[in-house]
Amino acid sequence: MGQPKSSPDQLRSHRWFGVIDMRSFSHRARTLQMGFRREEFVGRPVIGIINTWSDLNPCHAHMRDRAEDVKRGVWQAGGYPVELPALSLGEVMVKPTTMLYRNLLAIEVEELIRSHPLDAVVLMGGCDKTGPALMMGAISAGLPCLFVPAGALLRGNFQGRFIGSGVDTWRYWDEFRAGRISQDEWHGVEQGMARSVGHCNTMGTATTMMGLIETLGFMLPGASSILAADSNHQRMCSAAGIRAVEMAWADLSPQDVLSPASFQNALVAFAAMAGSTNAVVHLLAMAGRAGIPLSLEDFDRVGREVPVIANLRPNGAYLMEDFFYAGGILAMLDLLRDRLDLSARTISGTTLAEHLAGAARWNADVIRDLDRPVVDQPGLAVLRGNLAPNGAVIKPAAATPELMRHTGRALVFQHMREMLEAVKREDLECYPDDVLVLQSAGPVGAPGMPEWGMLPIPTKLLKAGVKDMVRVSDARMSGTSYGTCVLHVAPESAVGGPLGLVRTGDRITLDVDARLIQLEVSDAELAARRAAWTPPPAPYARGYGAMFAQHIGQADEGCDFDYLKGTAPVPEPEIL
Ligand code: FES
Repeated sequence: MGQPKSSPDQLRSHRWFGVIDMRSFSHRARTLQMGFRREEFVGRPVIGIINTWSDLNPCHAHMRDRAEDVKRGVWQAGGYPVELPALSLGEVMVKPTTMLYRNLLAIEVEELIRSHPLDAVVLMGGCDKTGPALMMGAISAGLPCLFVPAGALLRGNFQGRFIGSGVDTWRYWDEFRAGRISQDEWHGVEQGMARSVGHCNTMGTATTMMGLIETLGFMLPGASSILAADSNHQRMCSAAGIRAVEMAWADLSPQDVLSPASFQNALVAFAAMAGSTNAVVHLLAMAGRAGIPLSLEDFDRVGREVPVIANLRPNGAYLMEDFFYAGGILAMLDLLRDRLDLSARTISGTTLAEHLAGAARWNADVIRDLDRPVVDQPGLAVLRGNLAPNGAVIKPAAATPELMRHTGRALVFQHMREMLEAVKREDLECYPDDVLVLQSAGPVGAPGMPEWGMLPIPTKLLKAGVKDMVRVSDARMSGTSYGTCVLHVAPESAVGGPLGLVRTGDRITLDVDARLIQLEVSDAELAARRAAWTPPPAPYARGYGAMFAQHIGQADEGCDFDYLKGTAPVPEPEIL
């Protein structure tokens, strides 16, 4: 833990507001300009509220109001709240993919914190990439911080049935493509899908990351499970404001909270939730910022040991509203006590054991006992083989058991555009046993590693009743997706990975029990193809995209920029 502060002159913000010199004259004069009295900001901890609200992020539509609740808590506790807007990254609106901008938001957060007169920070996010980006930047900045999650939206409703974000969109889209529901019904799904503010209500990336950030120790107890539309959410926000002020005085930094134990706990929670495969990339990146060793094999190891007990779609039956009412993350972690390191620290200044003190489970079907898991398969398996020398992942809990051991003919597409056109064609040569392969969908190739990994099943096979096929790509997949999809193949095709050498007609073997993804082509033939291979043209000649391609890491490393990783110190700004 840092050095607790006992007087205002020890606060970081004192250098801006508390001293008598020409610069601090401006800092005070310009704050007075905004209508604040001197005693409202001088001598008080300054709490930055980094808010990822925007008009194009429906998951965060309530967060301007919630920032006011946080401010209420900060004022009550004797702090001075300042709201700082940051890149919003609304998952469904940002193209080509929010993942292209996760690191940009992380840079923004780190530099917002470093360059401003802040003593502690409240991070406000939820929609997929905002959680990891806020955390990555805050970890690197090193000031006391805690996370206020956006909260999940209410259950969707269609024809009297619950429907969940993403999961039921994919399902009904396939029904629509196969002609089994009408356009009016399709519009009915559209109308009933998102009925309130808040992030996706399935075990997608947002839900997963919020659960993991709480398990890592960065939220108030139970915060990640509170629904956005519930008044508990507002009360949690004001309590977070109060806690942020206390953290500023205590100088409780992210480095005081994070440890190998906290990441181990996150892996346990991830396995029990059968969380989104995207979280693998994000946790690796966050561990990289904290300087804590974490590898793909750690995910596989813990996944084999911890059963899936959160019965949430796409792996199970329920939605976040049910999970919240069933006791939420606290109830789930409470059942996993034997697998957790309860001595891990949290932003409350307590251990994880104390964080779980109020846990209670109210529904044993939504949050299952360990000996009655939701599925027999782990939430994640890490594959290797000559097709993915540096690893790939699959989500067995959301895959088809019969396809977990499968050899089939590769049907290869060099780009998603080509694939989307081809799968509509009735004359496309394709068979139910084929292995669909997509290239150029990785961090460099797409670029940004979009969520294309649930490759579309050719329409003519869908109409014939085919519901799943083995699919292989260097893309990611939405956490709300499902199917036998091999993802995150590393190295990716665009940087010379073997995935780029696959041709239609090759044979590919998937064996999840053996953790194998293998291209059944001889080494000599692969060497000849490699010698003839040329990299695809770079999509960006200038701008952020060009910088992204030069510095982005591969999926097995967390896709951080090379110059952002690690714990090398960055100087505090000089106030001259
Ligand atoms: Fe924001 Fe799913 S679209 S969390």
